[in-house]
Amino acid sequence: MSGSELTFGDFTEENEPFALFGAWLKEAEASEINDPNAVSLATVDADGLPNVRMVLLKGYDVHGFVFYTNFESQKGQELLGQKKAAMCFHWKSLRRQVRLRGEVEVVTDAEADAYYQQRPRGSRIGAWASKQSRPLEGRFALEKAVAEYTARYAVGEIPRPPYWSGFRIKPVSIEFWHDRKFRLHDRMEFRRETPDDFWSKVRMYP
Ligand SMILES: Cc1cc2nc3c(=O)[nH]c(=O)nc-3n(C[C@H](O)[C@H](O)[C@H](O)COP(=O)(O)O)c2cc1C
Repeated sequence: MSGSELTFGDFTEENEPFALFGAWLKEAEASEINDPNAVSLATVDADGLPNVRMVLLKGYDVHGFVFYTNFESQKGQELLGQKKAAMCFHWKSLRRQVRLRGEVEVVTDAEADAYYQQRPRGSRIGAWASKQSRPLEGRFALEKAVAEYTARYAVGEIPRPPYWSGFRIKPVSIEFWHDRKFRLHDRMEFRRETPDDFWSKVRMYP
């Protein structure tokens, strides 16, 4: 590849970002030592103060990027309040970054149930036991809650807690960044005004 070409391989001519994202995630799954689907999730609170933390991407398609969490957590409250979010993937071994932003929607109950039921039993109990993001007086209180829910759901299916579900970010911007020599990196952003529009593509100075 000559120095003037972008390092996006066969995807340089693509008019939508999902195929390239899929290819990069697949390569990350082969190269990262753990959690290639780990992604930082930025939200904003009611005062406009940003907040960021890691989550695990559990699905993506043309409709958006999905992760699961406790809706009573700080991020849950911020997302339900402001309905906007951003994500940033960094795949160190590949020297690549993908960032995206857009409005969020709640996944359907059917989607959330399907994902919840495939989680390990301990994680399903944990979802009941953890009052995520609220003060915990000590580790024992958490272990006691785990023991109580383990006893309550000793037999049969564990229902999905009503406050536990998924959010989908419907991106209006996705930017691909690839490290190149002398910090002359490649950047390509796909943009659209609304999630129903066609994408346009812009290359940017690094
Ligand atoms: C690699 C990694 C993956 C994580 N994945 C999730 C996740 O998918 N969902 C989640 O609720 N928290 C996840 N967490 C924990 C969050 O980063 C965070 O501590 C927690 O959700 C509380 O965030 P909040 O107080 O902003 O709501 C993950 C943490 C790490 C380090």
